[in-house]
Amino acid sequence: MVDKPPHDWAEGPYRIRPYGDLVLREKALPVQEITDVERKLAADMLTMMYASPIGVGLAAPQVGVLKRLIVIDVDRNDPEGSPLVLFNPKIQSMEGETIKEEGCLSFPNITANVKRAAKVVVTAQNIDGEPIRVEGEALLARALQHEIDHLDGILFIDYVSGLKRQLLRGKLRKLQQQSQQ
Ligand code: NI
Repeated sequence: MVDKPPHDWAEGPYRIRPYGDLVLREKALPVQEITDVERKLAADMLTMMYASPIGVGLAAPQVGVLKRLIVIDVDRNDPEGSPLVLFNPKIQSMEGETIKEEGCLSFPNITANVKRAAKVVVTAQNIDGEPIRVEGEALLARALQHEIDHLDGILFIDYVSGLKRQLLRGKLRKLQQQSQQ
């Protein structure tokens, strides 16, 4: 893994890694024990996710930490809602198919249509280490698949091919160059 020394995230020690940062291509490791360190990481990830007006999910590798942890809040504007914090999430089943526009906090200003399962069932551990099961449809299903992909170094643009990929090439190259500065 490539780690760069300056931590320029204003709110803490983490910052969101842009496309081109090699940490986004690494496989994250299972979290054996959920301690205050992991709970703080989850809280910092939520802060970073909410800092972007469009963020509905974030995976630990995106902040340079190779742990199997994701946070999601698809109802972020609902004051009654609460975010999902999932450790070691695993997709147990997938159903159907849907194509929708998708973005990623590691890809500012880039979106693309991605085909995903329409429904998923995910098992994980919550912030207290208890097993939980999440059934997701629509945006939640999409977010779960997108964030769990991050834990295996898979990015949404990997599903984009052909003409759209060509159209994005310039923007992607620019992001890659910025990530190496
Ligand atoms: Ni993403």
